[in-house]
Amino acid sequence: MTLLLGNTPRRLRLGVNIDHVATVRNARGGDYPDPVRSAKLAETAGADGITAHLREDRRHITDRDIDLLMKNLSVPLNLEMAATGEMLEIALRHRPHAVCIVPEKREERTTEGGLDVAGDENRLARFIGPLKDAGCRVSFFVEAERRQLESAARIGAHVVELHAGAYCDAHNEGRIADRDRELDAIVAMAEFGASIGLEIHAGHGLTFDTVKPVAALPDVQELNIGHFLIGEAIFSGLDSVVRRMRALMQEARSETLGEGVA
Ligand code: PXP
Repeated sequence: MTLLLGNTPRRLRLGVNIDHVATVRNARGGDYPDPVRSAKLAETAGADGITAHLREDRRHITDRDIDLLMKNLSVPLNLEMAATGEMLEIALRHRPHAVCIVPEKREERTTEGGLDVAGDENRLARFIGPLKDAGCRVSFFVEAERRQLESAARIGAHVVELHAGAYCDAHNEGRIADRDRELDAIVAMAEFGASIGLEIHAGHGLTFDTVKPVAALPDVQELNIGHFLIGEAIFSGLDSVVRRMRALMQEARSETLGEGVA
């Protein structure tokens, strides 16, 4: 039985972020472990897409990795990158299925906050023009804030990826009220974003413990998950970890939207 009548359930995709396979490889130099091999394995285990973040400092994924991923993947590549001239040139050369624009600070350990689309609207509008012309799906990684989504829609982004990091951190640290508030914001902004024509993705920090409430949201169409999957693969293997994440996503979807909806 479908519980949310009138709301067309959409399939939920899993994008597996393989950055940290490259982190481990780079710890020693050389070619092992190979991010492309991990991407192919994730594909076989049910990943709907592969995500890779080409950082300005190339601390994990390299230009060559992007090249090889483009040549070898059977599923779409979502290239995460900062809004710089260098990255634009690389993206236009490869024309990946999707480009997710993220904020980037050299000193951060990971992407710490969302992109301030509202505060940089004119520049970002010009920046994404050539990407859209090249046929890439353009996404902005943003906090679950109305003004960011309004800006993204106004300048013609196809997608927003809602930053799930604060929700996951609060969950992991047992800050229940904060966790619930952060989740409420994601719930509200997923619905609002879809209502103004944006495709809704979510990601950052998701684990087996935090994925289901986000996966259950009918307007969310894609989750991008990396660090936990690669870390957990040390214990259980990448194939089993990707399959379990996919199963949890599907379970969450079926519980809220009804049987048969993945
Ligand atoms: N989505 C975006 C935009 C990101 O920047 C990242 C981290 O690179 C992720 C998703 C994946 O986050 P995590 O590695 O914490 O699962």
